Amino acid sequence: MATERTLILIKPDAVRRRLAGEILGRIEARGFDLRAGKLLTASRDLGERHYAEHAEKPFFGELVAFITSGPTLALVVEGEGAIATMRRTIGATNPADADAGTIRGDLAMSMPDNLVHGSDSPASAEREIALWFSTDELV
Ligand code: RTP
Ligand code: MG
Repeated sequence: MATERTLILIKPDAVRRRLAGEILGRIEARGFDLRAGKLLTASRDLGERHYAEHAEKPFFGELVAFITSGPTLALVVEGEGAIATMRRTIGATNPADADAGTIRGDLAMSMPDNLVHGSDSPASAEREIALWFSTDELV
């Protein structure tokens, strides 16, 4: 399995609930390396571009409002098979369906407050890392 980089967002609900440290700790404990990180409140433009694949969905407005509602801790996380393994660590999209032991299954209850985003494919990871970070912010 190749070394991959993935975009992880510790979303505004997690920062508000002071769970950023708990979530970052789980990511590090799993064995991943941090390659970039910053705290920012996403602009409407960034939120809309990040969730562009959902632009036609009925929940798009709520989703953009949520992701722009406060500070997000954005990370680039690296490791073997990082994209799929981070998705499993995060758990199912709807926290109500997420297994115990996952971040969403242990710490969240319902959408859109599902605490964390992880890129879902190599193409998404490349697009999303470029959206949230400039190349000089990566180590
Ligand atoms: P994310 O992109 O936030 O990491 O979540 P995900 O890959 O697990 O799920 P995705 O399908 O990309 O959906 C993005 C966000 O949209 C909200 N959602 N609502 N009402 C609905 O049916 C519905 N489906 C998705 C969730 O907040 C999800 O995180
Ligand atoms: Mg997604």
